[in-house]
Amino acid sequence: MPFPTHRPRRLRRTPALRSLVRETHLEPTNFIFPLFVVEGEGVRKEIGAMPGNFQMSIDETVRECALLHSLGIGGVILFGVPKHKDEAATGAYDNEGIVQRATRAIKREVPSLLVVTDVCNCEYTSHGHCGRIVDGDVDNDSTLAWLAASAVSHARAGADLVAPSDMMDGRVAAIRRALDDSGFSQITIMAYAAKFASSYYGPFREAAESAPQFGDRRTYQMDPANAREALLEMALDLEEGADILMVKPALAYLDIIRQARDRFDVPLAAYQVSGEFSQIMAAARLGWIDGDRMMMESLIAIKRAGASIILTYFAKDAARLLE
Ligand code: PBG
Ligand code: ZN
Repeated sequence: MPFPTHRPRRLRRTPALRSLVRETHLEPTNFIFPLFVVEGEGVRKEIGAMPGNFQMSIDETVRECALLHSLGIGGVILFGVPKHKDEAATGAYDNEGIVQRATRAIKREVPSLLVVTDVCNCEYTSHGHCGRIVDGDVDNDSTLAWLAASAVSHARAGADLVAPSDMMDGRVAAIRRALDDSGFSQITIMAYAAKFASSYYGPFREAAESAPQFGDRRTYQMDPANAREALLEMALDLEEGADILMVKPALAYLDIIRQARDRFDVPLAAYQVSGEFSQIMAAARLGWIDGDRMMMESLIAIKRAGASIILTYFAKDAARLLE
């Protein structure tokens, strides 16, 4: 008997063999690209810590969406950066709000691109928290009405999916009920079900101008140490009517993605967040790593862990490489 019997390297000998046995594949149609929409016209302002990402006015956003669609990217998720902020986050559920107007414009010009709207209040509150402040903390139950109203206004504007990212208890049920009562029973809820209080959101808060003005988000977002609790959060969102579950951030939480994939039989999304993007971009700029390869490796890892949908700032670059 020649030694050894098993030679796994036989399957790695040529590109064709490696391709034949490859277990995981990326497709642009599973990517969702985040966009930050601002007031004005012709605005295209690069975000400092996120090279290649811009705050864009609605006209520029629509143009970007046409490009994304031509690259085969499945959809966009919209974050609004309003001029006006107040205690009651009124811009979040205004039918003429920035996200509502952007949604209408995109669906008019690029109707087959999926529009996901982020449902949260932090971009619209003067204090930057994700809900209504009572006694120095975000009040859960009175925030639900704002979220439900936002989701309905997004649906009315033509959003295909609404994605609540606030982490209030009971928000999925409140949003589902409000959507159904308003005639939007077909609108999908993609719940940020397991969203951790993460340092990886740093660059996003510059992009969305949504940093909390006092304290932090640890009374509503999850403790990074907790995996079982993440599964409970996901089970609850599913019970409340979520169609798609999301884990966020992605790369530091692959164990959560895998456990969720094994446990729940709904589509699973992962958000490769701003800090995940920025650290790869920064290291690539320093010449310390190969940026394109690390981008693809991080995306394949997220997919392999079990997420079929990936929200990522790399959507465009990855789609171009996959072409
Ligand atoms: C708002 C929201 C955040 C992100 C998505 N929606 C920031 C936060 O919770 O502070 C982070 C996305 C990213 O970092 O790319 N609730
Ligand atoms: Zn928020």
